[in-house]
Amino acid sequence: MRRLFLSACAVALGLSIFSTNSDAYAQDPATETAIKYRQSVMKAVGGNMGAMVGIMKGAGDKANLAAHAGAMADLSKIAPTLFPAGSDFGETTALPVIWEKPADFSAAIKKFQDAADNLASVAQSGDMAAFGPAFKGLGESCKNCHENFREKKEKK
Ligand code: HEC
Repeated sequence: MRRLFLSACAVALGLSIFSTNSDAYAQDPATETAIKYRQSVMKAVGGNMGAMVGIMKGAGDKANLAAHAGAMADLSKIAPTLFPAGSDFGETTALPVIWEKPADFSAAIKKFQDAADNLASVAQSGDMAAFGPAFKGLGESCKNCHENFREKKEKK
């Protein structure tokens, strides 16, 4: 009887520790902030991408391409810092595979950085014939990472 009581206590204790921990984790302000920060940076990445599309369609000054491409190259450099351990919990579409397969994920980041650097130097040179293909290369690097490491959207 005593043993049964003790084991019931142990189970109850175990459950309460488990639920306290997981609640604390999901609501950890540091985790939430890290996720928000990552999403803000990604929005800036998307914003620069959209701005370049606009310029290619004739809006704005072509000379601005270098600023957007340069910003993209800078943002790609901080990409590795956007995924601290534990930031796969909460309001995020980042997939756990990011943390499970770090080498694959680093390769996807490297692809992004190389493509962004390439675009930045093409934009600096003003070689508009090379800009299109370089831009396409950058777009493929986004797609490559999103397809493998980001939760699919319901509709798009
Ligand atoms: C190495 C991986 C990787 C690369 C490269 C990458 N992304 Fe992302 N992106 C993500 C992940 C993961 C998320 C989900 C972030 C989250 O929800 O926490 C995301 C989210 C986004 C979002 C949504 C942000 C929001 O929450 O509103 C946009 C927009 C975006 N990415 C644009 C881009 C564009 C444009 C490129 C290429 C120029 C790019 N990304 C390259 C991994 C990547």
